[in-house]
Amino acid sequence: MSSLMEKPKLILKEIEAFVPKSIDELEQFRIQYIGSKGILKTLFAEIRNIPNEQKKIYGQLVNEVKQAAEKKINLFKQQLSKKDKHDKQQIDLSMPGPGNNPGSRHPISIIRQQIIDIFHHLGFTIAEGPEIEDDWHNFSALNLPPDHPARDMQDTFFIQKDPDIVLRTHTSPVQIRTMEKYDPPIKVISPGRVYRSDNDSTHSPVFNQVEGIYIDEKVSFAELKQTLYYFVKEMFGKNTELRFRPSFFPFTEPSAEMDIAWNKNGQKEWMEILGCGLVDPAVLSNCNIDPDQYTGYAFGMGVERIAMLKFGIRDIRLFYENDIRFLEQFSPAV
Ligand code: DAH
Repeated sequence: MSSLMEKPKLILKEIEAFVPKSIDELEQFRIQYIGSKGILKTLFAEIRNIPNEQKKIYGQLVNEVKQAAEKKINLFKQQLSKKDKHDKQQIDLSMPGPGNNPGSRHPISIIRQQIIDIFHHLGFTIAEGPEIEDDWHNFSALNLPPDHPARDMQDTFFIQKDPDIVLRTHTSPVQIRTMEKYDPPIKVISPGRVYRSDNDSTHSPVFNQVEGIYIDEKVSFAELKQTLYYFVKEMFGKNTELRFRPSFFPFTEPSAEMDIAWNKNGQKEWMEILGCGLVDPAVLSNCNIDPDQYTGYAFGMGVERIAMLKFGIRDIRLFYENDIRFLEQFSPAV
């Protein structure tokens, strides 16, 4: 009789010691122990040979065995099925690797860097300024006092209805900040983002400009022309034609706009690419630079405009949509 009582205990030990190595082994285990003709079936059937007073304990023992078997199966089922899948996965060593996709530089970054490099060769260094500006630096110091009609040329974004704080409408305020901070000679360019409430295929509310300024004794309009001439040849090629047209900017006197000749469907067209001029003496005075001792030239250009010309892009919005098919066409990052 006692050996009958011992049997479930022995089987429990067997179950606890069992460690399946594969999902098949686990399935065999399941059939052997809890299958319809399994060991547990026999153990339960054995109950009729157990004396009445021990039936309860025996029943509990066999239940324990059953639970142990089920627990083991559940525990290994998940583990082994994962491993099984992994083992069945075949590695094809002849397959090409995942490749490395180095990405590309944004066309605006490419052009901005080219502009910087060209002026760097001419001895310009970089100056930066804030994108949130005050009225003084964005307008007044640049000879655009309140109510000056030229303010309307720039559709300004104001911050929190405070008429004194604006998103800078151009990079010209960086000239003012630089002249306020340093004594001449000053020779800097300022690349940066600017903001105007304007939005169509050739205008974006956020775009990039590069400003340039050179202040020293006896700086002349001829030097300005020579500098921009060099810039155009470097940027657009040796044979590019250019012309200066008289224009008006409140911060320069005289002022000009520069056009380059462009071949549009076999026809020569003039495209404006920048504004420039000799720094107005009033602007120098606003920055405590003596206009009797110093003169200077300044210029400002839109990076998008130049990138559109160079790459033949008709719609400025393509630059900001982050469409990978568009961006991939430009040179890889270096
Ligand atoms: N700030 C002008 C604009 O945004 C561009 C410009 C024109 C800058 C003439 C200059 C300049 O420095 O001399 O339209």
